[in-house]
This record gives sequence, structure tokens and C-alpha cells, in this order.
Amino acid sequence: MLTVESIRKRFAGAEDAPAALDGVSFHVAPGDFFTLLGPSGCGKTTTLQCIAGLEAPDSGRITMGGDVVFCSERRIAVPANRRNLGMVFQSYAIWPHMTVHENVAFPLVHGMRKAASGEVGPRVRRALERVKLDALADRPAPLLSGGQQQRVALARALVHEPRLLLLDEPLSNLDAKLRDQMRVELRQLVKSLGITTVFVTHDQTEAMAMSDRVALMRQGRVVQLGSPRDLFLKPASAFAADFMGRTNMIRGRLVQAGPPAAIATPLGLIGSDGAPGLPAGAEVFAVVRPQAVTVLPDDAPADGLANVFRGRVIAQVFLGDVVEADLAVGEGSLRVLLSPYREAPVGAALTVEIPPAHCVVVPAEER
Ligand SMILES: Nc1ncnc2c1ncn2[C@@H]1O[C@H](COP(=O)(O)OP(=O)(O)OP(=O)(O)O)[C@@H](O)[C@H]1O
Ligand SMILES: [Mg+2]
Repeated sequence: MLTVESIRKRFAGAEDAPAALDGVSFHVAPGDFFTLLGPSGCGKTTTLQCIAGLEAPDSGRITMGGDVVFCSERRIAVPANRRNLGMVFQSYAIWPHMTVHENVAFPLVHGMRKAASGEVGPRVRRALERVKLDALADRPAPLLSGGQQQRVALARALVHEPRLLLLDEPLSNLDAKLRDQMRVELRQLVKSLGITTVFVTHDQTEAMAMSDRVALMRQGRVVQLGSPRDLFLKPASAFAADFMGRTNMIRGRLVQAGPPAAIATPLGLIGSDGAPGLPAGAEVFAVVRPQAVTVLPDDAPADGLANVFRGRVIAQVFLGDVVEADLAVGEGSLRVLLSPYREAPVGAALTVEIPPAHCVVVPAEER
């Protein structure tokens, strides 16, 4: 549905700075919920604006449903209003002096592609029905909750029946509880409409909860592309491992490239199913999610067993649904998750196992 190929962009007046986009490529399948994820300034909004036609890349190509909408070589740049897109920005840009109906009708009445006057009413009603706001059509916009305003912005983006929906951090100004709820609603809504969506966020939990596929960006590049599960469980770099959620990053040296691989660390020797592409001797991180660590019964034998370690609780945080505990293991430390029903005060001894399949080895570059 959408193909972005090697787009580069350097802003005028920012010639000395690194490029905002440094060869961004990805493909979004029809009907997919696709997310651009990454830290502030990595180029998410710039990418979205290039897709929308609000910014022009310096080079590269963008194709939508078989139509080339931008190509630097062939000097093609289809204007934004002819790309047939819906957009919702972080600030919903809802007009406070208008009702819900008037806000959604705005692009049909005043936009570049005006609708025939007899068509406006039915089309607005259809868009409001899609976001379940038809009952509030006559309400003034300021009398809406944050979540309702968000749906008005969405209805307005959908009123032209776009082939692609672009969403730039649309949930970031909602409070935490509403944001959780809108995540689910927004995903269900666009999936039920079958509309291909490109979503931007810097929040990895949001990206995982909502997306079919995620492009993780850093400094103007896509550094990893995959399902939320792939990114979380199989990070390809220290940056990806760290960005996708809390994790143990255990620094060490690859003593056996394998598979199976073995890493000498301050905790002791850790075995992993593999360290693809890395030579023995490389400085690495063993990436072990706290969720991956198994806590064994107190009487489990430890000594001599591969990937079984004895530790002592040095700190813990009771979070209700789970207890995060830091263990001193060998010369290092390891964060694990415990059941809230398990008593494990500071000083308690625990035996834990790191399954080799869940220990991912990445090069020890800067995170
Ligand atoms: N109009 C502009 N002129 C000059 N530089 C810009 C302009 N817009 C963005 N940039 C720069 O381009 C880079 C990418 O910016 P972009 O807005 O795409 O980041 P982002 O990933 O959306 O970040 P955030 O999460 O903070 O919204 C940044 O270094 C930013 O400072
Ligand atoms: Mg942005």
C-alpha cells in the first residue's frame, strides 16, 4: 500500500546538523497498523510529513497504492491535497467556536476538495457514526472530553474516505487512563475500517499495544523493523534492546561464538542459543529481559548447572501486579520479577535460571 524508499532530508538552515532523514525505507501492507517509533528528534514527524506531502525529501521515492507520489529522480511531487490522506496531529486543531458537526464538515465545506452541498450532511454523519460520535453532533467542541475531541479529529480525517491515515502522537495529550483506553479503541476502529495507518509515537508501550509492525528509528534511520514481539524479544542492537523496555544489559565478552554461544560476564558464564554474526572475543551485551528469568524453588541445585545462578536480593520494589527485585549474582547484578505473593525480603537467597533461548547477544556499542 505504501512504500518509502531511501528518503533523505536535510532542512534548510540546518546544513551543519546531521540529516533529519538519512535514507529511510519501509513498506506498509494494506490494512496494516504501522508505527514509527523512536526517541525525540529521530525523524518520525519529518517522515510522516514527507508521506503527507507537507515536506519534500531531498531524494528518494514514495509510492502509494501503485501511484508514485514523490520521486526525486523523475521530479514527481504530488501535492498534499491530491494524495488522498487523512491526518491527525498531536494537537487536534479542533475549532472551539464550532460544533462537532461543523468541525467535521470543515474540510468538505472549506477544504481543497469541497463536497456538493447536499453531500456534506450524509458524509459528516457517516464519519461521526464510524467514531461513535453521532449522538454528539450538535454539541459545541469545548464541551467534549479529551477522548471525544480525539474522535472528532479522527472523524474529520476520515471524512474524505482517505486511502491512508497518518497519526502523529494523537494520544499524547490525554491523561494516562484515557490514553490506555483510547489505544485499544483507536486500533479497533481503524482495523474495523480496514484503513492502512501510519502512527507515530515515542512510547514503546503504545507502539507494542497498537501495531502490527513497528519501524524503530534512530538519528534519521530505521534501525529495526518487525512485529512488536520481534522487537521486544529479538532486539538487534543495544539501542533497540534498551529502547523497547526494561531489561538486563549484562556486559561481557563472547568466549564462544556458537551456536550455542557463551559470554563471560561479571555474573559468571552465560550461555545463549546464538550470537549471529559476532566473532569470538567481541565485546557484547547479554540482553536478558527480567520476564525471561525463571526463579527456581529454594531447594533447587545450582552449582555446576549451566545458566543457573544463586543470588541475593539487594533491593526490591513492590508494584502490586509484580515485584521487581535486584539480585547480587557473582560480581554483578540481575533484575528479576517475582510474584507479589512471594516473600523475598532484602537479603533473601534466590536461585534463578536464564534460559539460553531468551538470552540475546548484541554488540556492545553505545546505547
Ligand atoms: N523545520 C525544521 N527546520 C530545521 N530542522 C528541523 C525542522 N523540523 C525538524 N527538524 C530537525 O529534524 C530532526 C527530526 O525532527 P522530527 O520532528 O522529525 O523528530 P521527531 O522524531 O518527530 O521528534 P519528537 O518525538 O520530538 O516529535 C530533529 O533534529 C529536528 O530538530
Ligand atoms: Mg514529532
